[in-house]
Amino acid sequence: MRRPLVAGNWKMHGSCTSIKQLLSELVDERLPENVEVAVFPGLVHLQTVIAQLADSSIAVGAQDCAVQLEEGALTGETSALQLKDIECSMVLVGHSERRQLQEETDSVICRKFSAAQAAGLIPVLCVGETLAEREAGNAVAVVQRQVDAVLVELGVESLVHAVVAYEPVWAIGTGLTATPEQAQEIHAQIREHVAKYSAEVAKELRILYGGSVKAANAAELFAQADIDGGLVGGASLNAKEFSAICRAA
Ligand code: G3H
Repeated sequence: MRRPLVAGNWKMHGSCTSIKQLLSELVDERLPENVEVAVFPGLVHLQTVIAQLADSSIAVGAQDCAVQLEEGALTGETSALQLKDIECSMVLVGHSERRQLQEETDSVICRKFSAAQAAGLIPVLCVGETLAEREAGNAVAVVQRQVDAVLVELGVESLVHAVVAYEPVWAIGTGLTATPEQAQEIHAQIREHVAKYSAEVAKELRILYGGSVKAANAAELFAQADIDGGLVGGASLNAKEFSAICRAA
């Protein structure tokens, strides 16, 4: 039985004041016990958030990590070991905004995934096709290639302590949520693909949906057989909306 996970990606949002406010509102919300809840603040707010959530069940993750595990002369980078040291438990890798804006390749993402696991973090591997790729009929092939960049390179066992998030690029921040059927189709495809390597790993693998998830559409999405929760952007910045999404999982 896969435990649902709802993760809030705060992206480059928030000030010291607004983040403290959001957190105090969030801990006052009724969060479901059968759902794992995590938040991914920007790097500068990580330690504050970790301290403020120390007595809560909400996990804290980072939005990125360096390809290199050990410390070194890499200005501006943060290693997975440093994230572990401040008690992060997860890290996003391969978010489409980084694939697009920072030109991260599948091979860079694989190295980040590997570094995260070596440090004892759970990597959340983000995959998803652009609108052009979907319209060309290539959605499944693109997502499979992105999954394979880790699966084939590191082996199927690397997906045991990991999460996959399917986020169609055209649905991120646009209000254009994938229909439950569209999302389920890709989620099922990802699981079937992983099952070719290991049925057991595929069965246990949590696959989140991301892209304009909100309280109004979460229950229908999360009711799909292969959708195990969500990676929520904009709606995670509102404690009431985010907690309602968590309760829908
Ligand atoms: O990481 C989260 C996704 O990019 C989804 O963002 O919920 O604002 O569409 P969104």
